[in-house]
Amino acid sequence: MDNFEATSLRDALVGSVTEEWVGRRITVCGWVARRREHGEHLAFLDLRDRSGLLQCVVEGSLDVRPEYVVRVTGTVTRRPEGTRNDRLATGAVELTECDLEVLSAAEPVPFPLDERVEVDESTRLRYRYLDIRREAMQRSLRLRARVVATLRSSMTAQEFVEVETPLLWAPTPEGAREFVVPSRLHSGEFYVLPQSPQIAKQLLMVGGFDRYFQVARCLRDEDLRADRQFEFTQLDLEASFVTQEDIMAFVSRAVAAAAIEATGEDPGEFATMTWSEALDRFGTDKPDLRFGMELQNLSDAFASTAVKAFQAPCVKAMRVPGGAQLSRARLDALTEQARQLGAKGLAWFRVTAEGLDSPLARFITPEESAVLAGVDGAETGDLVLVVADEFALASRVLGALRLTLGAPPVSEGPYRYVWVTEFPMFEGVDDEGHLVAAHHPFTMPHPEDLDRIETDPLSVRSAAYDLVLNGWELGSGSVRIHRSDIQSRIFSALGISDEEAESRFGFLLGAFKYGAPPHAGFAFGIDRLVAIFAGVDNIREVIAFPKTQSGADLMTGAPKSITERQLRELRLRPAPKG
Ligand code: AMO
Repeated sequence: MDNFEATSLRDALVGSVTEEWVGRRITVCGWVARRREHGEHLAFLDLRDRSGLLQCVVEGSLDVRPEYVVRVTGTVTRRPEGTRNDRLATGAVELTECDLEVLSAAEPVPFPLDERVEVDESTRLRYRYLDIRREAMQRSLRLRARVVATLRSSMTAQEFVEVETPLLWAPTPEGAREFVVPSRLHSGEFYVLPQSPQIAKQLLMVGGFDRYFQVARCLRDEDLRADRQFEFTQLDLEASFVTQEDIMAFVSRAVAAAAIEATGEDPGEFATMTWSEALDRFGTDKPDLRFGMELQNLSDAFASTAVKAFQAPCVKAMRVPGGAQLSRARLDALTEQARQLGAKGLAWFRVTAEGLDSPLARFITPEESAVLAGVDGAETGDLVLVVADEFALASRVLGALRLTLGAPPVSEGPYRYVWVTEFPMFEGVDDEGHLVAAHHPFTMPHPEDLDRIETDPLSVRSAAYDLVLNGWELGSGSVRIHRSDIQSRIFSALGISDEEAESRFGFLLGAFKYGAPPHAGFAFGIDRLVAIFAGVDNIREVIAFPKTQSGADLMTGAPKSITERQLRELRLRPAPKG
């Protein structure tokens, strides 16, 4: 008997009771999953604990119903021929001659805890404590715990030290809206909950912890989606005296260890591609490499086209295997999607045995027709979609249509990891004409592009890199600026004045004056990684107590008002409900 399972109240978990135990008298505890009567004085109870189910045969009248918590002492007995249940790990045995003690009664539960019953998500979230009694949530949360333990041990083996950083903190630079906490002792002033430990971990580098990591809670007040919650957990890391490649190797090792633990498969070496290549081939910086439908650049072939719709700096095409059978309504919907994304339109060509079938067919030359009919090795029965526009827009629109038409659910295997490198330094220009940082303002520009920061900033690449899994951004990182001259140039490009830099990040810039080692780091979303491993498409499924899409906690009722007294202490006045 496993001693770790035994406690003062029980001898073992029900799931470990097998035929080897026949004849032993044991005590187990758990919830009544099911009760079946056999005549007036005999009942079969399925007893559930975290390890599974065990059938107990109880004689005499008894007052137990599903979800009662009971303690049963009985004799492990081989089930009679013909009554074995092969679907159950303990299906060859049962407990007989049972003594039963009710530890806790239960009211009828609001939904059956049987896995096979579909339950509406708001009911599940309202009674989350019951929902996590169910097998799927038990499996997901236990998987999560194993993944986190594996990540911790991989980081520790790679000589990283776990350091906790504050939750009550000052603004952090990730760019999302922040959650603020009023201070009672400093009336009218606020703490900010960290969007990430970014600044703290850079300070740890100044502090000489040359390899830091943390399983870090992060908070961001942003719109919630399948892959976003207000609160989430990162594996956050930073190291000194390293290059981008070193960081990528540390992270790859940790993620591979987690993958082996969760899926049993070694993912091998992760692919790598630059941001420009990702945009060109897949129309996104989060390429999903599980399927083809790569974008093709037809700009040369259409350089002197007479077709007005194709007279643009860039003509891009994508083959949709078997797409010729898409209905007109579906093609119209795709065209509408392309328009919503900013395209002027979407051209489509069905590849048929008789040639191309398209409203544009009669306007194109035989040469152009041959190019279109051969896109990506197209065959009869395929569809070719074309968007002509600026390079980035044409690529992004087709990239989005590629996902609409071809992407499997994110958690469906195989698992395809890819590092995306050489992100642009700046994302564009804001309303006030200032450049917008693509990562955060401490990201080092690519060493070859340093002299273009002032002259041609939008062409400057950064030493930033993302890890992508099945089309989801798993994590991001960068080499950081540790030299004040480069930092000043970046602040000034971003329109951050010396005073603003001082007031927002003064303590970090101050620290850098006292010997800042070159450093770089990374953080990835543990919720996202575990969701994909767990085979679910929403991170809520791997979080014990998540918020709904609208940010509510249906179980506690949060967010809710606080007492008059708390408001007074904090010197807050609630705005009238709008
Ligand atoms: P970034 O902001 O890209 O980088 O975040 C890193 C990763 O954290 C996860 N993530 C989220 N997961 C769930 N819900 C959210 N709302 C959410 N927001 C982010 C994603 C994302 O890829 N400090 C930098 C990292 C660094 O440069 O070292 C940072 O936080 O998986």
